[in-house]
Amino acid sequence: MHSLHRKITIAIDGYSSCGKSTLAQALAKRLQYIHIDSGAMYRAVTLYFMRHNINLADLQEVQDALEKIAIYLTFENDLQVTWLNHENVDAAIRAPEVNLMVSPVATLPAVRRAMVAQQQRMGEGKGIVMDGRDIGTVVFPHAELKLFLTADLEVRVERRWLELQEKGISISREEVKTNLLERDHIDSTREDSPLRKAEDATIIDTSYLTPKEQLQIAYELARSTVDSIRIA
Ligand code: CDP
Repeated sequence: MHSLHRKITIAIDGYSSCGKSTLAQALAKRLQYIHIDSGAMYRAVTLYFMRHNINLADLQEVQDALEKIAIYLTFENDLQVTWLNHENVDAAIRAPEVNLMVSPVATLPAVRRAMVAQQQRMGEGKGIVMDGRDIGTVVFPHAELKLFLTADLEVRVERRWLELQEKGISISREEVKTNLLERDHIDSTREDSPLRKAEDATIIDTSYLTPKEQLQIAYELARSTVDSIRIA
């Protein structure tokens, strides 16, 4: 049997714009796994909250809103499509306004409980690569392979700026940088599931690696993880 037929769970965490989703997507494709970008789910909740002017300080209002939200993920040519109550919100959730609001929304325990429960259900069958902030620590603490991505701030700013340019969103590098720093701060200092490296995660600094090189490193790690499980 090909050694990769045994499916594992792969958790990829890290700061904003380190290339998590790009790597997770490519790795899942190579392994014929599912890729879930968990950040898209927090972004979809944020979009709903913004559209309905939900007061984040009013926990009852937050809870009531969560009950009205259904987030679905589908896949087109291996790419995730994010649905919020039957609406394809893929473009809307990447807007700069959502970038400004998503981290405060993601601090709310009620929001996290709902998202984590759904993510854990999606991972029940293994064969999944999920990227986010708390995947190796909270969502899949028993994941067989955990990666923690880092990259220099300037590199991250340039990558995110280019990504937004390509989508026709005009924004200065300074604004991008401010947003990344602010989100990193909120994400790593929040009380509920802060962003941190799981003790057993492998760090990959993506600053000077091409996407292809990152994929090669991650793929080798996945392969040796599967092999070590088979031998054990
Ligand atoms: O793509 P980028 O790195 O900018 O962010 P993302 O992965 O789309 O996540 C957007 C935001 O959602 C993050 O800044 C976190 O506040 C939140 N998030 C989270 O709290 N937990 C996750 N597992 C994933 C995202």
